[in-house]
Amino acid sequence: MTLLEQQLRQETPRSLKALREAENACRRCNLYRFATQAVPGEGPRDASLMLIGEQPGNDEDLDGHPFVGPAGRVLDKALQEAGIDRKQVFVTNAVKHFKHEMRGKRRLHKRPDPGEIDACRWWQHIERELVKPKLMVALGATAARSVFERVITIHKMRGCVVPVRDGGNALVTIHPSYLLRLREERDKRTEYGRFLADLITAKAFVDRM
Ligand code: URA
Repeated sequence: MTLLEQQLRQETPRSLKALREAENACRRCNLYRFATQAVPGEGPRDASLMLIGEQPGNDEDLDGHPFVGPAGRVLDKALQEAGIDRKQVFVTNAVKHFKHEMRGKRRLHKRPDPGEIDACRWWQHIERELVKPKLMVALGATAARSVFERVITIHKMRGCVVPVRDGGNALVTIHPSYLLRLREERDKRTEYGRFLADLITAKAFVDRM
C-alpha cells in the first residue's frame, strides 16, 4: 500500500489517546525522521482555552511533552500571573515534530516551512474537533499561520479575538521564546507586560462565554 493509500485509510482518531498514537505514526512530512518522537498536545478534553505554539524544542523532543523547556517556563509564569491554570488548558504546537539542524553536537531549532505547517494542520484540526475550545491562542507566526491558513503579521493582529474561517475564535500573540531573545531588560519588561495583557484578554473572553 502506498503512503497516500495508508493515509486515506487512516481512521480519524476519536480520542486524545488515539490522536497521540496516530501523531506518533505520522509520515505526512519528513520531520519524523530526525525527531525523537512526536510531541502531542496535552490537557483536558473539555478545555475552554487551547494554546498553540510553534513546534517542540530540544527539551520537548526528548521529554515528549509540550512547553517544558525555557520557553515553557516563561509561559508558565505568564499563565500564572494571568490567573490561568495550565492544568485546565490544552497546550499544543502547530507542528508536532522537532525541526532542527546539527551544529557540532548541538541540535539548533529550525523554523518549520509552510509545507510542514500545512501538513501538520491535519492534527490541529482533529485536536480542535475533539476539544472544541472557546478560544485558541496562537503563540507566534507559525501558530498563527496554522490557525488562519495564511501569513499573519503578528503586530497587526495581536491581542484581538478574531473568528476563524472553519469555526471557533482565535487570538494571536507573540511566542514566549521571543521574550528570551530580547537583550535589554527594559524591552523584556515591556514585551512581557504586553504578552501578559494578551493572556488576560484571552482569559476574560473564555470566562465571559
Ligand atoms: N516552543 C514551542 O513552540 N513549543 C514547545 O512545545 C516548546 C517551545
